[in-house]
Amino acid sequence: MNRKDVIIIGGGAAGLMTALQAARRGRSVAIIEHEKKIGNKIRISGGGRCNFTNLYTTPENYISQNPHFCKSALSRYTPYHFLEWIEQAGIAWHERDNGKLFFNKSAQQLNDLFTQALNDHQAEIHCGVRVKKIIQDKGFRVDTTHGDFRAESLVIATGGLSIPKIGATAFGYDVARQFGLAVSGLAPALVPFTLNPRMKALFGPLSGIALDVTARCNGQVFSDKMLFTHRGLSGPAILQISSYWNPGDRLAIDLAPGTNLAQCFQYANPDMQSGAFLTDFLPRRLAKTWSAEYFPSRKIRSLSPAGRDAFLRSVKEWSFIPGGTEGYRTAEVTRGGVDTHAISSKNMESRDVPGLYFVGEVLDVIGQLGGYNFQWAWASGWAAGMVV
Ligand code: FDA
Repeated sequence: MNRKDVIIIGGGAAGLMTALQAARRGRSVAIIEHEKKIGNKIRISGGGRCNFTNLYTTPENYISQNPHFCKSALSRYTPYHFLEWIEQAGIAWHERDNGKLFFNKSAQQLNDLFTQALNDHQAEIHCGVRVKKIIQDKGFRVDTTHGDFRAESLVIATGGLSIPKIGATAFGYDVARQFGLAVSGLAPALVPFTLNPRMKALFGPLSGIALDVTARCNGQVFSDKMLFTHRGLSGPAILQISSYWNPGDRLAIDLAPGTNLAQCFQYANPDMQSGAFLTDFLPRRLAKTWSAEYFPSRKIRSLSPAGRDAFLRSVKEWSFIPGGTEGYRTAEVTRGGVDTHAISSKNMESRDVPGLYFVGEVLDVIGQLGGYNFQWAWASGWAAGMVV
């Protein structure tokens, strides 16, 4: 029997931060990770450079059925606290647009830093270990393929369902249910959309075309790049809006944001072909497809006022219901999760099961694109690590 003060299941961002903070306080810690290595998502994130935080993090950058829940942890462990640690370790970083911070060299530097810091504080990291059973018995007993562990505090840091190929499981949700906690609203988020067969046939050949758009859904608005793919739509504007979308919801996309298209149309040569008119505002191939689809007569002069309005609206308010999303295979995060009403926002402990903690993405808290999800992992992990 391996006895510790704290057992942490899941060696991802939130679990590593919890472990480090607890170990710094002198607590004996064991991390149990079923993959061969810790930090798989850290390693692949941000194209291998890891967008590890965002300088402008606010609670408004998060989605949860309990929007106040994230406030306490985020206010006590800010991006600047994480940055201080990175700087002390001498890891070089840079800022891209809108406060997004990335490592100059490689995301693996962060996994190496965690490993080193955890070793320095005698925290144990057990990789390639599968949990068989959790029993509450004067603390917690965790039976695994590598023997039994015992501790007074058990931290569930197993993340969400996104990218099963690199280790994602429903384990954390199952543990929550085992202890009577509710899990709700699970859905892939920060995920590309697929299109219905007709739209896919129309737009699939445009795969690779990217343009600036404004995407709207359920009262949310994002202006950024959109990318046509073989199966649908991707790019930052689409990933952002996907987190607010539910099956059957309509999207509205402005393909020429910042342009008064109606005014430009007024002054266009009436003998001009529709495709030619649109090439001033859209990528050429997209303009061609668009005018063929929405401008049957092709010449500007041949349009009725109603036809003209419909054409302009098709560009400024392209409105459609996506066929679906690419799902957990490619989603960056999982929306929904362990219901936070049953969790202390101060320290992430279950209100009804003392000693049981949930941190990171397994909770019903996700961030927008831009480093906010890692900041939640650090902040929630730190909050738990201070008390476990
Ligand atoms: P995380 O998923 O990191 O860790 C969970 C750990 O638990 C994993 O190591 C997993 O193997 C382990 N585990 C699961 N089941 C287990 C079981 N039964 N037993 C033992 N261990 C188990 N965010 C951001 O802010 N900036 C970015 O640049 C990116 N980029 C990005 C790219 C891609 C491709 C993805 C998929 C995601 C991102 N994200 C991101 C999101 C970010 O990676 C994510 O929100 C955090 O990693 C969540 O941290 P957690 O520790 O909660 O889960």
